[in-house]
Amino acid sequence: MYDIIVKKRDGGELTKEEIYFFIEGYTKGEIPDYQASALTMAIYFQGMSQEETATLTQAMVDSGETIDLSAIKGHKVDKHSTGGVGDKVTFIVGPLVASVGVPVAKMSGRGLGHTGGTLDKLESIKGLQIEMTKEKFIENVNTNKLAVAGQTGNLAPADKKLYALRDVTGTVDSLPLIAGSIMSKKLASGADSIVLDVKTGSGAFMKTLEDSENLAREMVNIGNNLGRNTVAVISDMNQPLGFEVGNANEIKEAAEILQGKNVEDLRKLSLEIASHMTVLAEVFDSYEDAYQALEENIENGKAFKSLRTLIESQGGDVAMIDDLEKLPKAKYDIEVKASKGGYVSAIDAESIGIAAMYLGAGRATKDDEINHGVGITLNKKIGDEVKEGEALVILHSDNENANDSIKKVQEAYTISDEKVEKPTLIHNIIK
Ligand code: URA
Repeated sequence: MYDIIVKKRDGGELTKEEIYFFIEGYTKGEIPDYQASALTMAIYFQGMSQEETATLTQAMVDSGETIDLSAIKGHKVDKHSTGGVGDKVTFIVGPLVASVGVPVAKMSGRGLGHTGGTLDKLESIKGLQIEMTKEKFIENVNTNKLAVAGQTGNLAPADKKLYALRDVTGTVDSLPLIAGSIMSKKLASGADSIVLDVKTGSGAFMKTLEDSENLAREMVNIGNNLGRNTVAVISDMNQPLGFEVGNANEIKEAAEILQGKNVEDLRKLSLEIASHMTVLAEVFDSYEDAYQALEENIENGKAFKSLRTLIESQGGDVAMIDDLEKLPKAKYDIEVKASKGGYVSAIDAESIGIAAMYLGAGRATKDDEINHGVGITLNKKIGDEVKEGEALVILHSDNENANDSIKKVQEAYTISDEKVEKPTLIHNIIK
């Protein structure tokens, strides 16, 4: 291990044997954390070649189980977002893609810190089960074309251990390590094709477009080299997506999109991702045909029906979706007002995520409980005109005093005197 660390420190390229030696040894506990942290720091500074990154990814896949989805009929597609605030795209894209007959076997995670988790949001619906046997998961996808479950099995344990180490050693922000980490979990989850939603901007891992494109290219190369058709959409995270940030309120907004409401950025990004998924599944020849067919399935109600079926099949109370007023709600609505008039020029997504977490919508530590009814509704987004004293957001709180969240929201918004353009939503597609 000493030789491997020194080789990478001095800018050398690691061989397949060296990478497997490290990943296997670290997973088994034979290589100590201090040597693993020295190597990840060396990788942070020296980077990795495309070949090294692909080998690292495969080694992390091979460190644990892989899910065999071959019992699911058809071309299975998956999506993954690199993490954002207000990102409820899965609840829209899953039913949309399923509505044209493409199977979606989605394994999702929980939220930590300023980003929310798909499973936490889904659990806003009374009774909904995200734990199920592998057999039930496969049966649901075969019957309904869609199931969403918590990650089962021991997928990419090397990544789990390494990610926890990176988190406390300042080595999260390394392009090959992020690419390998995300792709190892996606590859172990068994889908045939993958669409990646790589976020860019202040609320994302990658703050600049160049870094986001490089990360996307790296992940697309890994996917394609390891036998999965992979496409990346680079989308904007300079402000939260849609207007709702929380849990139940995000489910509500997603359901409304499937009922035909036009929340511009959210609808457009969802249709974009779903279109690429259905083209990869070879259901449509072109992106344009896919987009049109998916839009039709919103208008004719088929996509919403898919969402209902998902909820019913996992034991959820579908009455909460038929009447969105039945979803959990907080006791108090508190307006956060603009201290001056002008135009909204920036909304720091991370601060909005933290403000929602303070209300109880997210977890500060792994063991915190989620309060599904609390959250934030944005009244103003970038480019909007605002008058002094007008509400920028409404906090949905169970506590009359939400001063920490109010302060965080006030810090998140920047108001300028000049008119501001709305940001570009989709920056690039990498194939
Ligand atoms: N998400 C992951 O799963 N891994 C990373 O390294 C970063 C984000």
